[in-house]
Amino acid sequence: MSDQSNVDKPRIAVLGLGHVGLPTALGFVELGWEVIGADDDAAKVASIQSGQVPFYEPGLNELLARGLASGRMTLTHHVEEAVRAATILFVCVGTPQKETGEADLSQIEATARVISHNLNGYKLIVEKSTVPAITARWIKKTVTRFAKLVDASAGQAAEFDVASNPEFLQEGKAVENLFHPDRIVVGVESERARALLESLYLPLQRPILFTSVSTAELIKHAANAFLSTKISFINMVADICEEVGADVSQVAHGIGLDPRIGRDFLNAGIGFGGYCFPKDLRAFMYLAREHGVDCGLLQEVEKINLQRTALFLKKVRRAVWVLQGKKLGVLGLAFKGGTDDIRESPALRVVKALLEEGARLRVYDPQAMDAVRREVPPRDGHMEYCSSAYETAREADALLVVTDWDEFRTLDLARLHELMEVPVIIDGRNLLNPEAVRAAGFEYVDMGRRNRAKSWDTAEVVS
Ligand code: UDX
Repeated sequence: MSDQSNVDKPRIAVLGLGHVGLPTALGFVELGWEVIGADDDAAKVASIQSGQVPFYEPGLNELLARGLASGRMTLTHHVEEAVRAATILFVCVGTPQKETGEADLSQIEATARVISHNLNGYKLIVEKSTVPAITARWIKKTVTRFAKLVDASAGQAAEFDVASNPEFLQEGKAVENLFHPDRIVVGVESERARALLESLYLPLQRPILFTSVSTAELIKHAANAFLSTKISFINMVADICEEVGADVSQVAHGIGLDPRIGRDFLNAGIGFGGYCFPKDLRAFMYLAREHGVDCGLLQEVEKINLQRTALFLKKVRRAVWVLQGKKLGVLGLAFKGGTDDIRESPALRVVKALLEEGARLRVYDPQAMDAVRREVPPRDGHMEYCSSAYETAREADALLVVTDWDEFRTLDLARLHELMEVPVIIDGRNLLNPEAVRAAGFEYVDMGRRNRAKSWDTAEVVS
């Protein structure tokens, strides 16, 4: 990546070093900028300083090693130090949610207050965490309110701008997304802020969409809500496909060929999870309600998503009958393949529901087992953590696929068949090839596809 060494460089601070903050910080270091990463969790900072990314994200350890070696990356657990040392402040702290669905912005507010107490020159404060529209206004108000007190004693003007630069990183693909973003959205309200952010992203050579601050905030919310809608839509279509004997994968392919629709995010399954979609959808609905806007459409999206667990369990019951005492192998725990993140994981919802019904589980996930172990401790004969996918299949009455890890696509079916007590696979992610699985002697259940070999109306797609 290009080095900006001959430019008069503003320093960047990234406040909050989680799934968004750490890749953001390392991305800017790689692009040639000087970055100070801050997080008030001293243990997390120490781990990063020692070259360890505190979560699983392909390619990020290598990027961290390069960043630390470059001399352009410094780290601190004193957030105020980072604020003083930099001109551009990316706010990447967590925005969890309250029980009402409203976004909990206490970490954002706390960060705004730290900034207000450390205004030692012009600062550009950039929201990157997903926040409800008008959060920037609150940041501005908070910084202004508390800066005044400081100014009175320091006798200097508090100069700052607030901008919104929403993050569209996908977990598991963060590094790829960093350097090849589909779009860069920047909400600004001053020329100075616009010029600074434009210069930051210059090395990427990607078009930037400049908007107002609230519009940029809305773009992030609307994008996540729309993608969630696509998923719930195709899940509803999958249910109809099952009833009428059609194949949802072919429907998705067929409608996805229309560029107005697009094939992405039309994979039917047990629903969406993770730290963003469920939470952002609820926050968006909360925002709509607060402003008297009917959000019935999004309520349905959420409802369909929540019903996926019950639907999947029904399929399991239909395949193995009574769940009490049944030995089930479970492939996957993370909310999707490529991550160790289990926040709002549909796979984990399935696991918990099965345990409640008395099933005996042997589970495996390539990355997420440590996280789940802390929440659901191992229990002899009831919840056993296995060292491989094949181990889960041992003497199993059925095998359940609940996370779309690539390594599950290429399992040795003959070996699985040999290990299992009863050769039944229930695939909640439509990951396996139905014909191959059935040819290997399995009874196979999926989410709205039909056996192409048997269907008289199979569409032939020549690519
Ligand atoms: C999402 C957005 O994609 C990203 O732009 C934003 O910055 C953060 O939120 P992420 O949470 O990493 O990213 O996961 P994503 O890949 O979008 O998947 C979300 C959930 O939807 C997962 O549970 C996934 O399994 C599910 N999903 C996705 C489907 O069920 N079907 C699909 O077709 C696509």
